[in-house]
Amino acid sequence: VRYLITGGSGFIGSALCRALVDSGAELTVLARDPAHARARLPEGVRLVTSLAEAAPAPIVVNLAGENLAQGRWSETRKRLLRDSRIQTTRALCAWIERQASPPRVLVSASAVGYYGARGDEPLDEDAAPGEDYAARLCWDWEAQAQAAERCGVRVCRLRLGVVLDRGGGALARMLPAFRLGLGGPVASGRQWLSWIHRADVVAAILWCADRDDARGAYNLTAPQPVTNAEFARALARALHRPALLRVPAFALKAALGEMAQLLIGGQRVVPARLLAEGFRFSFPRLSDALADILH
Ligand SMILES: NC(=O)c1ccc[n+]([C@@H]2O[C@H](COP(=O)([O-])OP(=O)(O)OC[C@H]3O[C@@H](n4cnc5c(N)ncnc54)[C@H](OP(=O)(O)O)[C@@H]3O)[C@@H](O)[C@H]2O)c1
Repeated sequence: VRYLITGGSGFIGSALCRALVDSGAELTVLARDPAHARARLPEGVRLVTSLAEAAPAPIVVNLAGENLAQGRWSETRKRLLRDSRIQTTRALCAWIERQASPPRVLVSASAVGYYGARGDEPLDEDAAPGEDYAARLCWDWEAQAQAAERCGVRVCRLRLGVVLDRGGGALARMLPAFRLGLGGPVASGRQWLSWIHRADVVAAILWCADRDDARGAYNLTAPQPVTNAEFARALARALHRPALLRVPAFALKAALGEMAQLLIGGQRVVPARLLAEGFRFSFPRLSDALADILH
């Protein structure tokens, strides 16, 4: 099977590419910097720097996007965060339109930020979108991906929670402080953190690609979201360290500006559709996921 992947060199993409190469799939990855991508990807992946070079593929996975959690959200950075998702997805849809035989499926990333900050309300895929910057960005990103349906392509929009694994993502940012015993809850600690093990993300992407009846929005989060304070306790316990130091909301806002919303806000997301449609999580519980990652 042939795959075209954008953002394949990233934290999620590189794990997906490893799994696909191991399964014997043929991969083309769209990357801005082939040397950087080559170093992160297994042998046998074909790299292209523009869609014009990409051969037709029945399965397209769209993961590209400038990192939301890096650097303050200045107006320039907000434009970059947006363009790196919306323009890339638009270009991908235009490429799909030009194909004599369009792909079977487009699996396109989005995030649980779609729902905005929502207190304790459990959120399945039918919940209304939020209204903050990240929510509007996710809504527009999904709408752009959905446009590929016009070409007869099945579109799965993945609302990813906080993806956990070693070597990147949110854990890489938290681990140094927690390993020193300087970790702890953020703000009130009562805000929800919807997490998922990277292995389950890879499995869910392949599941969406394979199932002819999978389409629309899917929450990619473990079935048991936790509060931020529970997360801090679980991580500290897994590292045999205390989790006593609380980072107050005002300090985060001072340090991170509007981006602090990612940590202070939160959403209690449930993967209702994956569970109803029979997806089996390898890591439904946070303690098992952390034990696997930190062993
Ligand atoms: N990791 C999470 O916890 C999480 C949670 C929710 C949603 N997501 C979403 O899932 C997608 C993949 O996540 P990830 O953690 O794998 O991200 P990542 O490690 O930051 O990788 C994203 C990839 O996107 C490409 N990219 C970065 N900046 C770009 C730009 N300005 N223009 C075009 N392409 C750019 C890069 O590929 P090249 O440098 O090779 O071009 C990069 O490898 C992202 O869109 C992210 O927003 C991730």
